[in-house]
Amino acid sequence: IASPLIDRFGRRFPYLRLSLTEACNFKCSYCLPDGYQRCGSHDFLRLDEIRRLLLAFSAVGLKKVRLTGGEPSLRRDLTDIIAEVAAVPGIEKIAMTTNGCVLHKRATDWRAAGLTALNISLDSLDCQRFEAITGYRHHAQLLKSIEDCLSLGFSSVKLNAVLLRDLNDQELPSWLEYLRDRPIGLRFIELMQTGENREYFQRHHLSAEAIERPLQEAGWQLQPRAADAGPAREYAHPDYAGRIGIIAPYSKDFCAGCNRLRVTARGDLRLCLFGEFGIALRPLLQDDADREQLIGRLSGQLALKTAGHGLHEGNTGITPHLASVGG
Ligand code: GTP
Ligand code: 5AD
Ligand code: SF4
Repeated sequence: IASPLIDRFGRRFPYLRLSLTEACNFKCSYCLPDGYQRCGSHDFLRLDEIRRLLLAFSAVGLKKVRLTGGEPSLRRDLTDIIAEVAAVPGIEKIAMTTNGCVLHKRATDWRAAGLTALNISLDSLDCQRFEAITGYRHHAQLLKSIEDCLSLGFSSVKLNAVLLRDLNDQELPSWLEYLRDRPIGLRFIELMQTGENREYFQRHHLSAEAIERPLQEAGWQLQPRAADAGPAREYAHPDYAGRIGIIAPYSKDFCAGCNRLRVTARGDLRLCLFGEFGIALRPLLQDDADREQLIGRLSGQLALKTAGHGLHEGNTGITPHLASVGG
């Protein structure tokens, strides 16, 4: 067995975020306001390529995979992909981030195929606001299917809400009501600036402190974080079944907890969400015999990972929107 992936700053990477597609059927105003525009072919990683990729990663310590996109459920072979990931030795957690559009039809199959955790994007509890932000009509159905997911035996069900000034920043009281009896992890995500949302960012970016201050005043307590917990700050309250995580990429030391690598839907390794152009892995995913070489490329590239994302220094131009790199 090869030695685990570790970078110049002593960070370990047991966690891979694998994008399955660039396509998405929502039009989130901060991400794809005009909807997904297909560019080039839809030649995303096939099942056999995904298997070779994960076997290589698992040889260097992979423990957790997150399937992401775009919208991963647009892949017709998604359930097979989940089963393939579940068959890779060493992987303890298989999570997926989805907009939830087919939860009501598919969540049971995904769970049966081996999916262990679900993150669902839900930017508002209010139907009209939700529709204004995402362009998606079926808010009530989405809420219902989230509820149903709670009884499917997932180890965690989390919701993602991107914090948006003037669009959804007055909802803390309704969220708290929602979390009182539901064992759900809500994540407030600070809006991140990308190549395509600069103006939108100026208008709607809101610092996570706007939420954290009232939370602390209401008795929510910052939880000590495990060494390998990733960049979110977690809050809990004894009177609530749910928890609240804050993802504040502009705050100091955010990247010190980085524990993840990314591979795009076309098989490019990304060392950071806001990093360099990807490094092509696909040529090494065609034959089982290339595994050693693939592992060599992974550890070689990791030597180039920088300490931080550089967003403070204005590094935004490269990532057009998060759907392209799998958030
Ligand atoms: P876990 O850490 O696996 O629990 O997941 P998560 O909460 O990061 O997962 P999810 O895919 O639902 O991401 C929530 C938000 O966090 C998305 O907007 C991601 O883009 C953002 N995010 C995840 N990882 C990173 C990262 O390394 N850097 C930055 N800046 N944002 C990230
Ligand atoms: N800033 C913050 N979060 C974003 N997401 C997509 N684009 C951005 C952005 N620019 C979030 C989505 C989803 C997750 C995968 O990424 O809302 O919950
Ligand atoms: Fe689709 Fe996610 Fe982007 Fe929304 S944030 S448009 S659901 S990829």
